[in-house]
Amino acid sequence: MAARDEIHGFVGRSRELTELSQAIATPDIQLVTIVGTGGVGKTRLAREIVDRSAPNSTWVSLSSIDAAAHVPLAIALARGSQIPDTAAPWEALANSMNETATVLVLDNLEQIPDLADPLTEFLTRVPRTRVLATSRTALHVAGERVLELEPLPLTTTTNGVSAASRMFINSARRVRPDFQPTSEDIEVIDQLCHRLDGLPLSIEIAAAQMRLMSPRDIMASLTEFPRHVLRLPARGDTLEATIARSYTL
Ligand SMILES: Nc1ncnc2c1ncn2[C@@H]1O[C@H](COP(=O)(O)OP(=O)(O)OP(=O)(O)O)[C@@H](O)[C@H]1O
Ligand SMILES: [Mg+2]
Repeated sequence: MAARDEIHGFVGRSRELTELSQAIATPDIQLVTIVGTGGVGKTRLAREIVDRSAPNSTWVSLSSIDAAAHVPLAIALARGSQIPDTAAPWEALANSMNETATVLVLDNLEQIPDLADPLTEFLTRVPRTRVLATSRTALHVAGERVLELEPLPLTTTTNGVSAASRMFINSARRVRPDFQPTSEDIEVIDQLCHRLDGLPLSIEIAAAQMRLMSPRDIMASLTEFPRHVLRLPARGDTLEATIARSYTL
């Protein structure tokens, strides 16, 4: 896992990776939803699962879709196919899918109202299709397997650095490739990650400041912000916009 972390910058989550890859390989589980707060790493975990366990899946980004009736077209387009313009788009999508086993990753679907019923009905029509969804809330449908994703662990691991701090160091190296933390730096980074509640997006935003600041300077600047400012970046913010907002407030 460590070597792979260095290459891909993906940190921790070994239990979740095992659980998810087992779930999507289980024939009678058709819907697995990764649920968690904004920025906790749902999309990133889904990408990692696809890379490792479901290379032939179809990735459907739904963050700009706000009506359930538009989802079938988004899925069809992501699969490189078309469905007729019809009053029954879910049925048309099911009819367009052949019988081969397939995994659909439906990323960011929490803003789509009334999706549970048509999605459930669709899944009954395509029994060999699995859906891996990411969402801030569960769909609450029968047969859904939910994985509640928590922030990255802050406790020290066997190599002496927590997953959260490892993520900070990896992210810092993107802006400062030669960064070699001293043991004092690691102590401050641990404090920083605690302050950020181990939330990956917040860690990434703070680590981006390493271009110009030391871990201690970043820690000092963070203590000036109320916790909620650090925690909840709005949907649709670019990383840069969020950093700018956080650091100019
Ligand atoms: N385990 C991890 N290792 C390395 N980087 C991570 C990890 N988890 C998340 N990240 C990074 O943190 C940032 C936020 O993660 P991500 O976009 O997956 O959150 P999300 O839960 O999908 O948020 P949203 O609810 O807004 O869609 C991303 O830049 C992602 O690459
Ligand atoms: Mg996401």
